[in-house]
Amino acid sequence: MRKAFFSIVAGLCAAGIVAGAAMAADMKTDDALKYRQGLFKALAWQFGPVVGMAKGEVPFSNEQLALRADNMDAIAKMLADGFPKGSADGEIAGTKAKPEIWTNQADFTAKLVALQTATAALSAASGTLTQGDVGKHVAAIGGTCKACHDSYRNR
Ligand code: HEC
Repeated sequence: MRKAFFSIVAGLCAAGIVAGAAMAADMKTDDALKYRQGLFKALAWQFGPVVGMAKGEVPFSNEQLALRADNMDAIAKMLADGFPKGSADGEIAGTKAKPEIWTNQADFTAKLVALQTATAALSAASGTLTQGDVGKHVAAIGGTCKACHDSYRNR
């Protein structure tokens, strides 16, 4: 009797876990979409003042450059979590993420690392930079955005 009760409870728990996992999978792709698009918006937000400094539209500051570079680096590291399987364009609505992200995962990751490398270079150099140096960092960082968008983001 007692044994039967436990096996029923165990059965219910297992069913609950399965249902929970299925729900988590659905939620995961929709949440991941919001998560990564939010991070990309934050990335662009952080890059804005750096671009502004290169153009001479934002007052030059080595501290600001270091801060923005570190923030972008942190965002780039967080982005890796934002691409669970099943969240490509064609699988969920509202995304521009190409399915190739999941078939060329090593290359996609390399492009994310390239962004981190470019932001780390700016962070390391800040302190010794002058306004005239910012443009080449903007070009290097911006080049990593473009390289990934060209391959993995739909227009
Ligand atoms: C490793 C690849 C990769 C890199 C590097 C990258 N992006 Fe993206 N970006 C994407 C993908 C993929 C999307 C589409 C996301 C989606 O719609 O699910 C995207 C979307 C965006 C969006 C639109 C977000 C929205 O609200 O829909 C912005 C803005 C953006 N990226 C800015 C940038 C900037 C700025 C950089 C560089 C500083 C950058 N990205 C670097 C892959 C990348």
